[in-house]
Amino acid sequence: MNKKIKNIINKKNKRKIVSLTAYSKNISKILDKYCDIVLVGDSMANVLYGLESTHKINLDNIIQHTNSVKKGVHNALLVVDMPKASYNNKFKAIKNAKSIIKNTKCDAVKIESNNKNFGIIKELVNSKIPVMGHIGYTPQFKKKFKVEGITKKEVTKLIKEAENIEKAGAFSIVLEGISSSCAKKITKKLSIPTIGIGSSKFCDGQILVTDDMLGLSGFYPKFVKKYVNLNRIIEKAVKEYTKEVRVGKFPSKKNFF
Ligand code: KIV
Repeated sequence: MNKKIKNIINKKNKRKIVSLTAYSKNISKILDKYCDIVLVGDSMANVLYGLESTHKINLDNIIQHTNSVKKGVHNALLVVDMPKASYNNKFKAIKNAKSIIKNTKCDAVKIESNNKNFGIIKELVNSKIPVMGHIGYTPQFKKKFKVEGITKKEVTKLIKEAENIEKAGAFSIVLEGISSSCAKKITKKLSIPTIGIGSSKFCDGQILVTDDMLGLSGFYPKFVKKYVNLNRIIEKAVKEYTKEVRVGKFPSKKNFF
């Protein structure tokens, strides 16, 4: 097993795993100093391209952005989302995952669970492709965000789904929008680390979409903490630049040759 993957698994019950998303080098080189995992998420659809759903992101988009991200990642584990429909049968899954890894030199792929595709994870792992699972709110398969793991029936179903993903060979699993008590139970049951987003502090690690926590995306649901308001900072700089260009203050002598 890849040493970086082993290191992630070994963090379970020792220290929290820190993860964020990146779509380009300027951000990834900062994340690489602090994060254990950098994810090239298909959330780029909404966040970067202004699309309504992640379904529009294809293999070329993911590979192109990962190539940029990879330029800034030297220490963190680089995980890449497999786009919707790129893994709906085992042949496609293996071909496309191999293409992502060959063309980007990333460490692992992430696939969303539809509570049926455990066999795909198994095939990928058997082909020596490290896989991160993803349960709860999985935008590739579910239209609307809804917190899961509230009723007893939902809790039992989610625990089973997580166990099946572990059994299939995944090295970790994202829990998205899962109630804190259910996330706690899943985290306790599994021997692989759980990475939560909107799923409480009881997971083995956390992930957020970087543009959300930086206050850039304009998307701030309850589970996002905005650590800075970059929108405001950028707007202030652009406003100042505009003013200076209009009054002829920029460029000044020191800015030209
Ligand atoms: O696409 C993405 O950014 C993700 C995270 C929200 C886990 O899947």
